[in-house]
Amino acid sequence: KKVVLAYSGGLDTSIIISWLKENYDCEVIAVVGNVGQEEELEGLEDKAIASGASKIYIEDLIDEFVDDYVFETLKAGAKYEGRYLLGTAFARPVIAKRLVEIAHEENADAIVHGCTGKGNDQVRFELTVKAFDPDMPVIAPWRTWEIKSREDEIEYAKARNIPLPMEKDEFYSEDRNIWHISHEGLDLEYPDTEPNYDKVLKLSVSPEKAPDKPTYVTIRFDKGVPVAVNGEYMKGSDIIRYLNKVGGENGIGIDDIVENRLVGMKVRGVYENAGGRILYTAHEILESLTLDRDTMHYKDKVAVEFASLVYNGLWFSTLREALSAFVNKTQETVTGDVKLKLYKGNVINAGVTSPYTLYDEEYATFGEDGVYDQTDSQGFVNLYALPIKVQAMMKKKVKAK
Ligand code: ARG
Ligand code: SIN
Repeated sequence: KKVVLAYSGGLDTSIIISWLKENYDCEVIAVVGNVGQEEELEGLEDKAIASGASKIYIEDLIDEFVDDYVFETLKAGAKYEGRYLLGTAFARPVIAKRLVEIAHEENADAIVHGCTGKGNDQVRFELTVKAFDPDMPVIAPWRTWEIKSREDEIEYAKARNIPLPMEKDEFYSEDRNIWHISHEGLDLEYPDTEPNYDKVLKLSVSPEKAPDKPTYVTIRFDKGVPVAVNGEYMKGSDIIRYLNKVGGENGIGIDDIVENRLVGMKVRGVYENAGGRILYTAHEILESLTLDRDTMHYKDKVAVEFASLVYNGLWFSTLREALSAFVNKTQETVTGDVKLKLYKGNVINAGVTSPYTLYDEEYATFGEDGVYDQTDSQGFVNLYALPIKVQAMMKKKVKAK
């Protein structure tokens, strides 16, 4: 028997390899989806083999992730519960899709993941697996094994000479990719206390440690997709890397959130998404010029639904794809340049231009103009006010009785 494991090199998935071999008597193929974990990927090959895997795939999914998942969501303006930029949520489907492909190539009997039974990630992995192979068995050791804590894990690993990636119970539960780093657990489980940012942050500095001078960046969008920074055309992943760097240096993109997991409980997490925050802000500023009112307001509602679908693991659903089709139609004129001032945690609008701008200083001015005749407004206001007026007349009549 043979299984394909979503492997990260962390303690959980290292232990899972020997647990699988002991309990299922199977060959384990480790698969790492590289979505921009950076240094977390170092030495994974040796670690996986030393932990008992027969083979490891390290799949470069960065550009697919950025172009087909991150930017699709950016165009939608989707933020879960108004804030979370979904960094972990949309990384799961891209990884799980590749897991299924490899499971097929390898003729594997099951797919294994190291998510706990209490979180969102199990749902995201498994819904994607089912979308591409409805019959593929999934093994989720955390939901069944006897190991219940970090201490149990360390003991288990030591008894079997599994190389320990970390010794102490001093590490947050983190998930890193090119779009974000999430931190959960330890002292962050107490929402009444400010995080120790010196300990938590890896990408950004606290705003008070950011330089006293602002940094300007200009981002060019083509149909809602970022294509250039400061006049230089780059691929999406390079844009994000650059903005993570300058944004991080300026203390941008630190979010401390209590969010509602799909499985019911609330969880507190700290996110670092410097590049993401900059791109969302720039995109919103550009849309404020280029979208007509009704489309913009409708799109705001779509964004809420889109975010829930992504958060809840429904990336590969008809509804998410249909909403993306709507979003892409709206993006046809979201082209232009947005200049931003990055300063101590703030992303400040410093000017926007678009060949498709609907803003016209001539219409907005209080002076004379050719398109707007103020005498038209009298009739408009009278008719617009009619329901309010009729109600007020009714109330007056009732009161008089
Ligand atoms: N709460 C976030 C989410 O559900 C982050 C989850 C992080 N996952 C992890 N395995 N550390 O998207
Ligand atoms: C996990 O429980 O495996 C990580 C957190 C989450 O999925 O929400």
